[in-house]
Amino acid sequence: MNDSQPSSALGSSVPLTPPLYTSAVYRLPDLDALDRILDGQESGFIYARDAHPNSRRLAALLAEVEGAKWTITTSSGMAAISALVLANVERGRRIVASHRLYGRTTQLFQQELPRLGVQTSFVDTSDLEETKKALQEPAALLFVETISNPLLRVADLPALARLAHDANCQLVVDNTFATPILIRPLELGADYVMESVTKMIGGHSDVTLGMVCGNNDKRAEIAQVSSIWGFSSSPFDCWLTERGLETLALRMKAACANAAALAEWLPSRPGVARVAYPGCSDHPDRELAVRILSGGFGNMLCFDLAGGREAVNRFMRQAPNIPFSPSLGHTTTTCSHPATTSHRYVDPAEKQRQGITDGLIRLSVGIEELSTIQDELEKGLSVA
Ligand SMILES: Cc1ncc(COP(=O)(O)O)c(C=O)c1O
Repeated sequence: MNDSQPSSALGSSVPLTPPLYTSAVYRLPDLDALDRILDGQESGFIYARDAHPNSRRLAALLAEVEGAKWTITTSSGMAAISALVLANVERGRRIVASHRLYGRTTQLFQQELPRLGVQTSFVDTSDLEETKKALQEPAALLFVETISNPLLRVADLPALARLAHDANCQLVVDNTFATPILIRPLELGADYVMESVTKMIGGHSDVTLGMVCGNNDKRAEIAQVSSIWGFSSSPFDCWLTERGLETLALRMKAACANAAALAEWLPSRPGVARVAYPGCSDHPDRELAVRILSGGFGNMLCFDLAGGREAVNRFMRQAPNIPFSPSLGHTTTTCSHPATTSHRYVDPAEKQRQGITDGLIRLSVGIEELSTIQDELEKGLSVA
């Protein structure tokens, strides 16, 4: 039997779950076949850094969930941001970005891109006048997070898309905290959407993956940047993500319901100084969240411990079943500490301005029974 043609061994059987193609390279019969693939006359694969069956399958599924014409998968969320930025800027171009972003994204704009001659102006994108003013100077991209990391401010995507387009600029949305289950930014005018698939879409903390999608004609350019700079995704991560994607809607529904219940319950617990959740009546963007999100306000929730860093340490030691693991989107509830993890390298004055205090805990709420989460939180809070 020729092992290079496994489908012949399956007869008329078709595997219910997708095969995993780990091959880094593909065999071709001759030069003409290579030309047909590269010229787009025939589908096929040559080298996995350029494309492989698992990324192609996943990209098609993700495009459907995001309502996009095309999707490109990348080795991480940061790779997705890097690929789309590099495909859209050059020396001398400018970016306008929200000042409330994941710490590494801020570092990319603040520390890495200036080395290539690209400057970023950081603005409060919740202030539409300030954003409009910043866009008066030419900018290639306006970059925001739908629900910001960590304090969960919601971006007014329809208004920001209008402002960007009036200024001949493209809106890029990091939709990681919201996921396409709560909102599909392309339908509200965004030009690009990226997600850290590592988080809720993967859903099990076992993949590191990103994606960028859009409806414009930039697919080939971004794919080329991704391959040349080496941002490509691995087959195994794409394969695992396909499984995660099957339950994304169910997981988000359950986790959002748990998070909403916890947001109501937590303010009454001892030691909790403040709770931030877009569904709460005192959240500055609650009305906007009601208007643009559907199916919930997300699974992310923050609360501040009055006792600061030492109270956080005591909480973590006392509540090990809410593991301190600086990521999000796991099936069960985990916690993180933005001041020392995701936003560790953000300027201390900026951290203070945003309210990223030493007592701030960020919960990624999971899909367990609500009482299981409450019991563990009670344990942690009793010593915090
Ligand atoms: C909002 C947001 N965007 C992007 C990223 C980067 O994603 P990745 O870790 O997959 O590179 C993260 C990571 O935490 C994030 O929270």
